[in-house]
Amino acid sequence: MPDRKRYAIVGTGGRSRMFTDAICKDFADHAQLVAFCDTSQVRMDYWNQYVADTYGTDKLPTYKADKFDDMVKKAKPDVVIVTSVDATHHQYIIRAMELGCDAVSEKPMTTDEHKVAAIFDAIERTGQTLRVAFNYRWQTTFSKVKEVILSGAIGTPTLVDFQWRLDTRHGADYFRRWHREKQHSGGLLVHKSTHHFDLVNWLLDDHPETVFAAGGLMFYGEDNAKRRGVDAPYERYTGVPEAKDDPFGLFMDTTMSPNGVSKGNEMKALYLDAEAESGYIRDRNVFGGENKWPVTSEDTVSLSARFTKGAALSYSLIAYCPWEGERLCVNGTEGQVEYFGRGSGHIIAGQSDEELTKDQYQGEQYIRLQRMFEAPQELEVPKATGGHGGGDSRLLTRIFIPDSPPDEMGRDASHIDGAASVLTGVAANQSIATGQAVKLASLWPKVKQTAGA
Ligand SMILES: NC(=O)c1ccc[n+]([C@@H]2O[C@H](COP(=O)([O-])OP(=O)(O)OC[C@H]3O[C@@H](n4cnc5c(N)ncnc54)[C@H](O)[C@@H]3O)[C@@H](O)[C@H]2O)c1
Repeated sequence: MPDRKRYAIVGTGGRSRMFTDAICKDFADHAQLVAFCDTSQVRMDYWNQYVADTYGTDKLPTYKADKFDDMVKKAKPDVVIVTSVDATHHQYIIRAMELGCDAVSEKPMTTDEHKVAAIFDAIERTGQTLRVAFNYRWQTTFSKVKEVILSGAIGTPTLVDFQWRLDTRHGADYFRRWHREKQHSGGLLVHKSTHHFDLVNWLLDDHPETVFAAGGLMFYGEDNAKRRGVDAPYERYTGVPEAKDDPFGLFMDTTMSPNGVSKGNEMKALYLDAEAESGYIRDRNVFGGENKWPVTSEDTVSLSARFTKGAALSYSLIAYCPWEGERLCVNGTEGQVEYFGRGSGHIIAGQSDEELTKDQYQGEQYIRLQRMFEAPQELEVPKATGGHGGGDSRLLTRIFIPDSPPDEMGRDASHIDGAASVLTGVAANQSIATGQAVKLASLWPKVKQTAGA
C-alpha cells in the first residue's frame, strides 16, 4: 500500500463512527487509524472491538484524555480528528498542532471567542492546518442553490430567509444530552446553528457584520413543562417505570422507545454501560433533572443579521416542531431561488413509514428558481446517498483523498470559516442576553480578516 496518512480520533462517541468507518473501509488505501483517545475507556474499548469485528483490524492503542500527549508521541498521527464535546475541541486542536499534527475538527470549531482566538494563535505559531468538517456545504441540494447563485440567475443576493425546524425526536435529543448546557455546547445557537450560519456565509461568500437575536427556552425544561401542566418527575428515562409511555423518552436498555426510535444495542454499549465510569447520562428527561443538569440553551430563536457586503439574513430555529426540515430562500436583484425539504414527519406511535410519507409529506423536497417577470422553474433536486443529504460522504472524500484539485465551489472549510460561524452564534447569544445588536468585530477584531471580507 502507498504511504498512508496516520489518523488518531479524540472523542469516541456516536459521531466518531463516521470517521472510523471512512478510514477503515472506504479510504483504507489512503488512511490508517492509529489510536483512540477519550475520557471513557468503555467507549474506546467498544470501538476497538467494533473495528476488530467489522474490519479484522488489530486492536488499536487507547489513551485516556489526560494521556493525549503520550498518544501523539507514541502513535505518531499525522492528523488528529477531534470529535469530542464541543467545549473541549480547542484543547485538542491546539495541542495537536503544538505537537506537530494537523487537525480536523467536527463542527462547531469551538464555543466562544476566547477559544477562537487561541486556535488562531496556535495556527500562527505552528503553521499547522485545521479543517472544520462542515458537511452541509457538501449536500447536493445546497450545492445546487450555490450553483444557481454563481450562475447569476438571481442577480446580487440581497436577503436570505432561512427557517430550520427540528422535530420532537431529533430536536428533543439535544435536550437529553450535554448539548442542553451552554457551558458544553455554546447552546443551540453555536452547536447547531453553526451549520446554518456557515451555509449562508458560504452561499454569500461573506459573513455577518451585525447580529440581533431574540429567543429563549420556551418548551423544554422543568419550568416550562410545569407551566403547561406536564408532570414528569423523573431525571431520566431508562429503567424508570413512570417514563415508559413518555413520547419524549429514550430507553437505552431496549431497542425501541415509544416514539418509534430504534437505538439498538449500540446505545447501551456506548453510553449505558459506560455510566459508572464516565457519569455521562445520555437519556436525561427533557422536562426534568433541573437540579442536576439545568437547561441553559435556548430552544426557540429568531435572528437578523447584516452582512459586510450589505445582504441581510432572517433566520429562525425551533427544536420541538411536529415535523423536521428547512426552507432556504435566497432573494436577489433579479429573482429568487428557494429550497424546501421536509425530512421526517412527526412520529406517531404505530404509524408505518408508508403512512408517514403519505400523510405527513415526509420526503417532500423542491428547488424552485423564479426570475423577475418569468415563470417559476422547478429545478431537479439532485439525488443524494448517505448521511446528511449526501454531505458526509462527499466531505469524507475531500478529507481523505490526498491532493484533490481545488473545489470549484469553495466547499473546503478552514478555521476562518469555523470562526465566522461560531462568532455569529456567540454574538446571537450575547444579543439575547443584552437585548442589543452585537457587532462581530466587538467580539474579536480579527473577524475582519475572515470569510468574504
Ligand atoms: N457534522 C455533523 O453533522 C455532526 C453530527 C453529530 C455530531 N457532531 C459533532 O461531533 C462531536 C461529537 O458528538 P457526538 O454526537 O459523538 O457526542 P457524544 O456525546 O456521543 O460523544 C462525545 C465524546 O466525547 C468524549 N469526551 C467528553 N469530554 C472529553 C474530553 N475532555 N476529552 C476527550 N473526550 C471527551 C465523551 O466521553 C464522548 O465519548 C460534537 O462536536 C458534535 O457537535 C457533528
